Amino acid sequence: MTWHGGEGSPRLHIVTGKGGTGKTTVAAALATALAQDGQRVLLVETEERQGISQVLDVAPLGTQEIEVSSGLDGGEVWGLSIEAGAALVEYLRLFYRLGRAGDLLHKMGAIEFATTIAPGVRDVLIGGKIYESVRRTASGRAPGRRSRPDEPPAYDAVVLDAPPTGRVGRFLDVTGQLADLARVGPIRNQADSIHQLLHSDTTLVHLVTLLEQLPVQETLDAVESLTDDSLRVGTLIVNQARDAEVRASVDLVADREPDPSVLTEQLESVGIRTSPTMIEGLVQTAADAVARRDLETSLEDSVVAAGRPVLTLPHLLDGVGPDAVRRLAAELAAQGVGS
Ligand SMILES: Nc1ncnc2c1ncn2[C@@H]1O[C@H](COP(=O)(O)OP(=O)(O)OP(=O)(O)O)[C@@H](O)[C@H]1O
Ligand SMILES: [Mg+2]
Repeated sequence: MTWHGGEGSPRLHIVTGKGGTGKTTVAAALATALAQDGQRVLLVETEERQGISQVLDVAPLGTQEIEVSSGLDGGEVWGLSIEAGAALVEYLRLFYRLGRAGDLLHKMGAIEFATTIAPGVRDVLIGGKIYESVRRTASGRAPGRRSRPDEPPAYDAVVLDAPPTGRVGRFLDVTGQLADLARVGPIRNQADSIHQLLHSDTTLVHLVTLLEQLPVQETLDAVESLTDDSLRVGTLIVNQARDAEVRASVDLVADREPDPSVLTEQLESVGIRTSPTMIEGLVQTAADAVARRDLETSLEDSVVAAGRPVLTLPHLLDGVGPDAVRRLAAELAAQGVGS
């Protein structure tokens, strides 16, 4: 799988998955991993939830792009929160040259009036902003107006912390959503451009999962429905996987089912006082761990069977912050991300 776009165009990486599986964390790690060798990566969130700023421990992201972190090996990670109201103001300014009126709308409280935007239009506005950031060239001009066709893009990659799998299909179906709202006109044209971008080689959709029944099922369903919608599924990312060491000790227990009397004897011999309840508890814990391992193995097999490259990220015991994001980014890089 290639991680970079062709012919100098950046690649758009859309990160989705079941709620709570680690989309935001993985999106931040992916952006950090892609920001290798001086690359510039834009990390985008759309739902005003400020998840990225929490994970990276930076000030809340706004509608202006700012540098939020360095990538692996000296690249740059920039952050942006796309908000439908601000995107609409920008859109009106661009298309209708509504300079003052646009500002006025903004002052009236873009957020308030953003809630009155039809959901389909809202996604087109957000998509339009993503489209613009993917297509923008280094000098900041829109591609159609650039003076030098060989000018490099503003970002080498754009990573989107997208809505969860349950909503991502609709979110990405900008033209379908608009069908009844706008058949012609600039909004329609914009939707068509976004549609083209999302269905081009440039865009990959990555799915984050845990090795648990529901997230895996949702992931497999999403692979199918995204493929049906002609979107390209990039990788399946198994997040919060158990440590290899833990796995190895569970393997050991599975091979030699613990014998309560031997266990009692061994513990007593190193000076640990046992009771039947304690021994029973230990044997049960071991059996549970083996059952869980077997379930995880079968879930892992079904993830692999989906036929997409699989990346695995460890469960970090100290929680997630900027250091953890770098560790996860290094894991991704070690598994080939960015090269
Ligand atoms: N590899 C990991 N190791 C340990 N904890 C993790 C890991 N990845 C994510 N987490 C934790 O799991 C929780 C969910 O992660 P995150 O917020 O990234 O998920 P999300 O899919 O974006 O959630 P939401 O659907 O609410 O947006 C957070 O508490 C995060 O710190
Ligand atoms: Mg999130």
